[in-house]
Amino acid sequence: MALRTILTEGEDTLYRKSREVVKFDDRLHELLDDMAETMNQANGVGLAAPQVGILRRVVVVHTGEEVLEIINPEILETSGEQDGLEGCLSIPGRYGLVKRPMKVKIRAQDRNGEWYEAEGEGLIARAFCHEIEHLDGILYNKRAYKMLTQQELEEYYEEEDE
Ligand code: NI
Repeated sequence: MALRTILTEGEDTLYRKSREVVKFDDRLHELLDDMAETMNQANGVGLAAPQVGILRRVVVVHTGEEVLEIINPEILETSGEQDGLEGCLSIPGRYGLVKRPMKVKIRAQDRNGEWYEAEGEGLIARAFCHEIEHLDGILYNKRAYKMLTQQELEEYYEEEDE
């Protein structure tokens, strides 16, 4: 396993559409292992392949218990709404407010090409939406209704603590 470099805002690759994965081979497994290591090292909740310069439909999300490997994902169902803070390893140090569904059900392939379904709620639902959008070249600051300044961020955390 190896750490990969996370591309940041302004890099062309982040704004391009990723292609479907068709080969579930050692190269894919190495990418998945590296992405999990890179995400964990950066304390991220999720990471999408274009963030490490690979335009393939591959995402990893840390569910709190495990790293879910999500390949060629589709969103099947969404319900409810949440409004909250979102960040991205490709936009370091910045946060914004984004409305997302509270629950998201996805269908995806695992590292061997087997299809499975997964449901996420709260932070995981947010991560599913955020990471899948990366595969279409969309960064969350396009979705945010407000990007916060450092002072607004501090005020937001103070309100959350009350
Ligand atoms: Ni991101």
